Amino acid sequence: EPLVITDKAEMREWSRSARRQGRTIALVPTMGFLHEGHLSLVREARRRADAVVVSVYVNPGQFAPSEDLSTYPSDFEGDLGKLRAVPGGVDVVFRPQNLYDYGQREVGGSGVESDNGSVSCLEEKGMGHEAWVRVERLEKGMCGKSRPVFFRGVATVVTKLFNIVEPDVSVFGKKDYQQWRIIRRLVQDLDFSIQVIGSEVMRDHDGLALSSRNVHLSPEEREKALSISRSLSRAKSAAEKGQVNCQNLKDSVIQAIQEAGGKIDYAEIVDQESLEAVEEIRSPVVFCVAAWFGKVRLIDNIEINV
Ligand code: PAJ
Repeated sequence: EPLVITDKAEMREWSRSARRQGRTIALVPTMGFLHEGHLSLVREARRRADAVVVSVYVNPGQFAPSEDLSTYPSDFEGDLGKLRAVPGGVDVVFRPQNLYDYGQREVGGSGVESDNGSVSCLEEKGMGHEAWVRVERLEKGMCGKSRPVFFRGVATVVTKLFNIVEPDVSVFGKKDYQQWRIIRRLVQDLDFSIQVIGSEVMRDHDGLALSSRNVHLSPEEREKALSISRSLSRAKSAAEKGQVNCQNLKDSVIQAIQEAGGKIDYAEIVDQESLEAVEEIRSPVVFCVAAWFGKVRLIDNIEINV
């Protein structure tokens, strides 16, 4: 039975005590409403360390006030049930109530705009947090362009979780490819002694990338959203058969998604390491897409190694 810890100090104490016993710790950060994609990370974590900590925290610092923080799905009892069923088990579920609660400290910094002129739900609530972690180049494109406060919120909360849990290993999904690269870079550049693992995208039987937000798709929208994974997988085959012109590959994916009724946020073919856009596929790339179906924004990607 996993131990549920809600207090930061208690979490850190648990980790330090496990350390003293010579056990290594793997952390899987999540926002809950767990599905098979999350559970695949937990199984990977189980293979990589002696103890597994899963954090469940919907981080207001990575949502803009206009985004879906208030409707983000949650089901903590369901999450616990799924974690109990993981072979080998989970040692701790870290479920903080508010990671930005600094006790009696005077609340300051409320209403402060981030340097790109946008605020997250934290500033909006006057929660008074002003130290942010930025990964400046990698956070600029793709999801960072349409969600200007997103990656500083992610990098900051993951840093906080690393400092509280002090893991040896942390596992992230390649479903959020840019996020995974940003966390890797953060750990390198700031000398965290943590091994960051990237785990493969988990898909439903029909190819749709699993996401907590999929529950908000109507059956019709869900069917239409299959155009994302299907067109990406066709683009990969085309590239493997010699179609290396990225504009052509992007055009066909954009067309397929639009024909299905999706609204493209971005479709980009970028270098797997630098995330810089490429015009021709000459080295390992990843084809990343974000598109809206109804009120739901979905992301997906496929690695192409020709
Ligand atoms: P969340 O969306 O809950 O995802 C938690 C982890 O599960 C991330 O590493 C994500 O990439 C991974 N994941 C989600 N769907 C997946 C899929 N279909 N296949 C494989 N992995 C998948 O990402 C976040 O939360 C947050 O930004 C977080 C890192 C927790 C910081 O708040």
